[in-house]
Amino acid sequence: EQRQETHGVGENLVLVSNRQPYRHHYEGDGSDGDGGRSIAVDNPVGGLTAGLDPVMQRLDGTWVAWGDGEADFAVADEDDQVAVPPENPEYTLQRVRLSEDEVRGYYDGYANQALWPLCHTDTCRVRFEGDHWRHYREVNQRFADGVLEHAQGGGTVWFQDYHFALAPRMVKTAEPDAFLMHFYHIPWPAPDVFRICPQRTELLDGLLGNDLLGFHLPRYGTLFMECVEEFLPEATVDWGAGEVHYEDHVTTVRSFPLGVDADDIRQKSEDADGMFEARFRHEHGIGEDVTLALGVDRLDYTKGIPQRLEILEHLFETRPSLRGELTYVQKGCGTRERVPAYQRLRDRIEDEIDRLNERFGTDDWQPIVYTTKMYDHDALCGIYRFSDLALVSPLRDGMNLVAKEYVASQVDDDGVLLLSPLAGAYEELSDGALEFDPYDTAAGADAIERALEMDERERHSRMRTMRRRVHEADLPTWLDDVLETAGQVRATRLEGH
Ligand code: G6P
Repeated sequence: EQRQETHGVGENLVLVSNRQPYRHHYEGDGSDGDGGRSIAVDNPVGGLTAGLDPVMQRLDGTWVAWGDGEADFAVADEDDQVAVPPENPEYTLQRVRLSEDEVRGYYDGYANQALWPLCHTDTCRVRFEGDHWRHYREVNQRFADGVLEHAQGGGTVWFQDYHFALAPRMVKTAEPDAFLMHFYHIPWPAPDVFRICPQRTELLDGLLGNDLLGFHLPRYGTLFMECVEEFLPEATVDWGAGEVHYEDHVTTVRSFPLGVDADDIRQKSEDADGMFEARFRHEHGIGEDVTLALGVDRLDYTKGIPQRLEILEHLFETRPSLRGELTYVQKGCGTRERVPAYQRLRDRIEDEIDRLNERFGTDDWQPIVYTTKMYDHDALCGIYRFSDLALVSPLRDGMNLVAKEYVASQVDDDGVLLLSPLAGAYEELSDGALEFDPYDTAAGADAIERALEMDERERHSRMRTMRRRVHEADLPTWLDDVLETAGQVRATRLEGH
């Protein structure tokens, strides 16, 4: 079902993201006698690329993204372009090639050791290094140049996320008639936190090259404008209109809470039958009467996984009757593994899980099952469906789509979502979710106990409330909202000229 209108902004859209929607990679090593490796294609994990790909397929635009492997360039033409989807080409993927130093500086460095922790208000993890910043700036220029090849004479450019805070200004300066929009997928910090960033002025200046700047929550937009007022005195914030006026240019700031493709998830979880659950339990040695709690996370320190494990330890310690009755499945996905903070986190999580299993486990029961196996989306929806509880406990999270995916999978209305109030998704789901505070161990254990004891009526009523919300505010609705707002903002700008 195609619900999106493009509201006049879609034609020849240039979309910019760090992650690409299709990744080519080599398979095999030639040892099977065919004399060479073959190239296969897959979709990198992540809701963002999966959600935007269908839109691009209809709009026939260009998607500019980092090509992160040799095979990505082997299949591309001399301009590093490849038509995708590979089996039925609809639009152009323009791959940007980055050197090893650039990746270390821009991606491992400034994006993920400065901006990521800064925007999540994790100031102890923030690292500012001159080389990182220099590469971040250079790579933003490389992407801006790539964009400019496709946005001659105007057109619409849509930047994604914190990897590209500087590129909008670069593009705007070179091509003032282009309409620039940006969606920032992570939180924006308070001025007192943003203050520690030596490049705060450049970052604000870069983002204000956009005509429309979107965040998940109104709160993040407000914090952004507070930072502008505090650190960019030449700019004026029009609080009533939600606009920043700066250097003869207006940036409209709006919120668009990202949703999931709820219809698709519902379909996939309906397709997952009892056999699927039985196989999963068997594969992980989980008895059929054992209650199943699930956590699905990138292994990121913002997700609050050690805190969740501490809550579980407290639970099994204070409620011995739950031993043998409840198993927590932690599905982890490796991420940003060259960054030391991520390596340390992964080691810590694995050590803690071993320790808890050692402490409480018996011959026929394990309190925690840990898996890093990659499940495809169909399988994941099945796992969500039959998990009795979902534990989502970020210390801070722009939105958190796992919470929404879990809800959309509850076609039997039977599960309970335990959700940290520090996730953006809590704003929409607090009517149905149980509050799950990662910083309060005893209260977290109480919440799990309450979830286990909740009667069917209450479970169903809470889940129905959340499912309604997740279906109403789904991904197609989000896209429509973003594009409609962009169309209005663009029309106003054109009138003003
Ligand atoms: C977050 C960011 C995305 C990013 C994803 C995965 O959701 O907002 O921009 O793509 O994490 O992280 P990675 O570094 O692997 O792209």
